[in-house]
Amino acid sequence: MSSKLLMLLSFLSLSLGGYMQIFNDNFENLDNWVAENMTGAQSGNNEWEYYTTRHVNVHTSKTSYGQALVLHAQKESYQGYNYTSGKVHSKIQWGPYGFFNIKALVPKGNGLWPAIWMLPTGGVNVYGTWAACGEIDLMETVCTLDPGYSTLHFGGPWPNNVRYPMEPNNTYPFTVDWTKPHSFGLEWQETFMTFWFDASIVNGIVQGTKIFTIPSSIWYSQNTQGVKYPGNAPFNVPTNIVLNVAVGGFWPCMIPGCCDNISVPANMYVYNVQIWELSQEIAS
Ligand SMILES: *[C@@H]1O[C@H](CO)[C@@H](O)[C@H](O)[C@H]1NC(C)=O
Ligand SMILES: *[C@@H]1O[C@H](CO)[C@@H](O)[C@H](O)[C@H]1NC(C)=O
Ligand SMILES: *[C@@H]1O[C@H](CO)[C@@H](O)[C@H](O)[C@H]1NC(C)=O
Ligand SMILES: *[C@@H]1O[C@H](CO)[C@@H](O)[C@H](O)[C@H]1NC(C)=O
Repeated sequence: MSSKLLMLLSFLSLSLGGYMQIFNDNFENLDNWVAENMTGAQSGNNEWEYYTTRHVNVHTSKTSYGQALVLHAQKESYQGYNYTSGKVHSKIQWGPYGFFNIKALVPKGNGLWPAIWMLPTGGVNVYGTWAACGEIDLMETVCTLDPGYSTLHFGGPWPNNVRYPMEPNNTYPFTVDWTKPHSFGLEWQETFMTFWFDASIVNGIVQGTKIFTIPSSIWYSQNTQGVKYPGNAPFNVPTNIVLNVAVGGFWPCMIPGCCDNISVPANMYVYNVQIWELSQEIAS
């Protein structure tokens, strides 16, 4: 094939291509996930639960909305803690770039802080420790408050970390009916990140409700000496997906009354994790 024709063909596929699915987990099993064994103190958020790997805290189950990963928070004396809960991360790292769509029924209630997010395992990668390694929060919500939040964490290693948008600008610009499952999406490209609500891929394109877009000019990563890494670091390397239900912790317990009467037992049900990659080349 002539190189001109090849160029034309790859141009065509670039313009005609779009997001192609590379991963689809309906939680028939937990093969793609690692349950974390972690204390609330180790979470870095002063959380009140102990995340265990036991079946009671992390399992799959058939539910009224279909097969699901169940992250179960409950009141229980466990290794000096008063609550246990579940937290998993993806066995492998994904990205950089693509469309990540996670469908879940998210619990609301006093003291609850469920989250769907992305962080390299152990909070460290080639750029260093948190938040130089980057953190992408697709969905967080606390207590009985209505809003959902999407936030990026980046900058230097703690305490030189930064987050964007700052409250209240990281709030979803609409209310959420938390009694129903929803899809929380991240369109992650070299030049921007867009958070999506109840979106899906139609003909290779993301369609749904846009939460907001953050251009890559906003984010950066720097080392302990304050020297910035080039390019669109830290969001240009693969990372892990993280799903958890925190009980208590700095954020919810800052809100008056939220941690007075913790609403447990509580479950987050995750029905589906899909990852899509932008197709840019045709097979030779
Ligand atoms: C969880 O971590 C604790 C503390 O490090 C350890 O004692 C315990 O054996 C671990 N449990 C599992 C299931 O790995
Ligand atoms: C468990 O509850 C007791 C009694 O309220 C409290 O003193 C203790 O700090 C709690 N433990 C943790 C790890 O939160
Ligand atoms: C939120 O966004 C508005 C409008 O862009 C801006 O004026 C304000 O400073 C932002 N608030 C914070 C806390 O960054
Ligand atoms: C605590 O929450 C439970 C369930 O939401 C409720 O029935 C109970 O009245 C609450 N207790 C207090 C003291 O607010």
